[in-house]
Amino acid sequence: MTEDTLILRRPDDWHVHLRDGAMLGQVADATARQFARAIVMPNLAPPITTMQAGAAYRERILAALPEGRVFTPLMTAYLTDDIDPDEVERGFRQGVFTACKLYPRNATTNSTHGVSDIANIYPMLERMQTIGMPLLVHGEVVSADIDIFDREAVFLERVLRPMMDDMPGLRVVLEHITTRDSVEFVQAAGDTLAATITAHHLRIDRNDILAGGIRPHVYCLPVAKRRFHREALRKAAVSGNPKFFLGTDTAPHRRGDKESVCGCAGVYSAPVAIESYAQTFEEEGALGKLEGFASEFGPRFYRLPLNKDAITLKRQPTRVPESIVSGDIEIVPFHAGEMMSWRMVDEV
Ligand code: NCD
Ligand code: ZN
Repeated sequence: MTEDTLILRRPDDWHVHLRDGAMLGQVADATARQFARAIVMPNLAPPITTMQAGAAYRERILAALPEGRVFTPLMTAYLTDDIDPDEVERGFRQGVFTACKLYPRNATTNSTHGVSDIANIYPMLERMQTIGMPLLVHGEVVSADIDIFDREAVFLERVLRPMMDDMPGLRVVLEHITTRDSVEFVQAAGDTLAATITAHHLRIDRNDILAGGIRPHVYCLPVAKRRFHREALRKAAVSGNPKFFLGTDTAPHRRGDKESVCGCAGVYSAPVAIESYAQTFEEEGALGKLEGFASEFGPRFYRLPLNKDAITLKRQPTRVPESIVSGDIEIVPFHAGEMMSWRMVDEV
């Protein structure tokens, strides 16, 4: 390890949307190039709610990767009001499902089948608590009277706290946190609660989306908040507290679907994910904390072994492409057109 080389135990991505069909190959390969494993979100249309659908999606992911890529997709089940706990338990016991994902209904992309009232899935949550299956939470309250910038903070008190009080043994990951409120909530909670932090929420605040022109490619959900929230996320990420770990929320949409009168939410960070985190950690004077956040705390929470191999980043200023085209699909990546100070190299 020198000043210009950074060797990390290979990281995992604990929250990614790999998509399906024509987009899957590109996104899966960009993810598998950097990460050994990824928690794969189930918000396809229709969503993944059965063991058979989860297993078939996993096969499609593996089939979409080029020869020689070693990658383990960790599948999740999408909780609906009428999800069958027996089916989910079977999937968990047979190693198809690693966790369940809770989307409040209509909170985000493909969430029309999401849960309308948490009370409807209490039997499912009790089962997960019993069998030790983690719950992954999109933590936003969706109701017309709540301002979009307050949705996450309101979720903590209205939904998450009562649920955790009722289900003290349930292990929960609060996904893609965006607020100081969530940082403090996670810090104060017991060991059953952890959180993922995206690369983009460590770098953007709401001004980056809205000031001086609207920038649809950094619009995502939960939407980035005020700058002081971003600062709290950065402090949490570099703190060495194992309750905070890496989850990119890579969520690509076609360029035309983002640059639209009603643009889709989601940032495509997979192609530059580890470089983006490295840049943030370096700015915070905390490069030494990156490996824990990226490669150790996630597996520890999920009770999985650490990866054995490593990746290498070189200090090599590199420009991120303005867009990435594959077939007839064009996607604008996070950091498009910017210079990154680190570059992950495939061959050392
Ligand atoms: C995600 C997507 O597009 O699937 N979008 C996003 O902004 N993060 C859904 C989600 O995780 O909210
Ligand atoms: Zn997501």
